[in-house]
Amino acid sequence: MNRLETRSVRTTVYTFVAFFFLLTATTPVSASPRDQERWDAKYENEVYIFGTQPIGFLRDNLKLLPKGKVLDIAMGEGRNGVYLAANGFDVEGIDISEVGLKKAHKLAEQNNTKITTRVVDLENAQLEKDKYDVVLCSYYMQRSLIPQMKSAVKKGGVVVFETYNEDYLKYRKFNPKWVLKHNELLELFKDFKIIRYQAFDDGTEAYSSIIAQKH
Ligand SMILES: C[S@@+](CC[C@H](N)C(=O)[O-])C[C@H]1O[C@@H](n2cnc3c(N)ncnc32)[C@H](O)[C@@H]1O
Repeated sequence: MNRLETRSVRTTVYTFVAFFFLLTATTPVSASPRDQERWDAKYENEVYIFGTQPIGFLRDNLKLLPKGKVLDIAMGEGRNGVYLAANGFDVEGIDISEVGLKKAHKLAEQNNTKITTRVVDLENAQLEKDKYDVVLCSYYMQRSLIPQMKSAVKKGGVVVFETYNEDYLKYRKFNPKWVLKHNELLELFKDFKIIRYQAFDDGTEAYSSIIAQKH
């Protein structure tokens, strides 16, 4: 290789490296395409992997929820949203998995009710402010989304949140990043009025739940 060719190869390599850095610096970081594939694959089955019944905390506290518009965050196959729709709420579900949401529509049909759904990547989402009477989030842990959940709920409306807490790690292998610390929900919603809270542990599973009202 003569000197001119060497310079040309070097220039090509520098250009490629510069292009690569520019691309990674300007592309938004998102785990979504992989998450979407993973969840679509999990749901690609007739069986409702999370069941067709709502979480007990929602059923037990139904009367505390103001009737109106519900946002079911990471709705999945719809067990909670469909239950609320069947009880007279106007339910919108969002999730990254189109396959999950299709099953949610099917479940709604079986329960003679209707829901609306949108495929949304919550890692890059912008929730509408002051729109919902109830914002529900069950077993989807994205701490960075909590400020948006709070602003999406109307004054007088409530956030319902439930997911595994750190005691769950005694029973199952699970990423510790995705479990709630003791009393973490109370801390996260300290600027709301706490209507109900529980830290559940029956020796086989453990989770925390909250209903918090915006004032
Ligand atoms: C454990 S499931 C819970 C489903 C439902 N909330 C329930 O309790 O039955 C977690 C859900 O989060 C959804 N999800 C994961 N990553 C997401 C993302 N980046 N944006 C939107 N939804 C996502 C999955 O598709 C899945 O339906």
